[in-house]
Amino acid sequence: MKKRTRSACLLAAFALVLCGCDAGAGGSTEGGPGSKAGAEDKVAQVIAELDRICREQTVYMVGPEKGVRLAELIRSSEPAVVVECGTALGYSGLWIARELEKLGKGRLITIELDADRARQARENFERAGLAGRVEVRTGDARELVSKIEEEVDFLFLDCNYANYHPCFTALEGRLRDGALVVADNAGLGAAGMKDYLDLVRSRYKSETEWFDIDLPWGKRDAMELTVFGRKAE
Ligand SMILES: C[S@@+](CC[C@H](N)C(=O)[O-])C[C@H]1O[C@@H](n2cnc3c(N)ncnc32)[C@H](O)[C@@H]1O
Repeated sequence: MKKRTRSACLLAAFALVLCGCDAGAGGSTEGGPGSKAGAEDKVAQVIAELDRICREQTVYMVGPEKGVRLAELIRSSEPAVVVECGTALGYSGLWIARELEKLGKGRLITIELDADRARQARENFERAGLAGRVEVRTGDARELVSKIEEEVDFLFLDCNYANYHPCFTALEGRLRDGALVVADNAGLGAAGMKDYLDLVRSRYKSETEWFDIDLPWGKRDAMELTVFGRKAE
């Protein structure tokens, strides 16, 4: 297991991404509402709105620093199928789906236990113009992941610490060799997900990435990045 720290300068990257002018966007900001820039502005607006709502209502979400990192990971790994366990209102899903849209391929299956949150997330993906890339499934991720039939290239775990281990083991048979598995809150929630962290760190190439965050519920946290099928060093 390796550890690395990511600096707060990611906030600058966040500002750029919110403007829809990060390096990956590749387009000019010219054009009306139907243009590529207009579509990116729409996503950025919904992300900014959800960022505010989640902070005000204490709906736990990844926040911009980890959102930027998730986007980078999607951009570099170009997954065909992404599974997220724990949708909430769709904040992290928007960061993921926007990159899939920019890549012009791939889709996100995101699972949420709370039916009202799942409904709101669907609306948010719709408003952001990303509904075509996302399927929100309502129910217990520990059960629903077993129903996924396609090969999964990217798994994002963010659905209560004790559920990481059962979600991961239920989906193991569907994970492509080399698939990236990202587990949120590996800092703040390390004790609660010890079974999961022990499993992936002992079996696979796994790295703990630390983030300085600025959320009402925490200032420093980590995500565990695991490459499925690759041996632990
Ligand atoms: C931390 S929030 C997810 C945040 C979201 N990934 C984001 O960053 O915007 C955790 C969510 O997991 C959901 N959840 C809890 N247990 C679950 C389960 N067994 N299956 C699916 N979702 C679950 C909760 O209702 C909550 O909305």
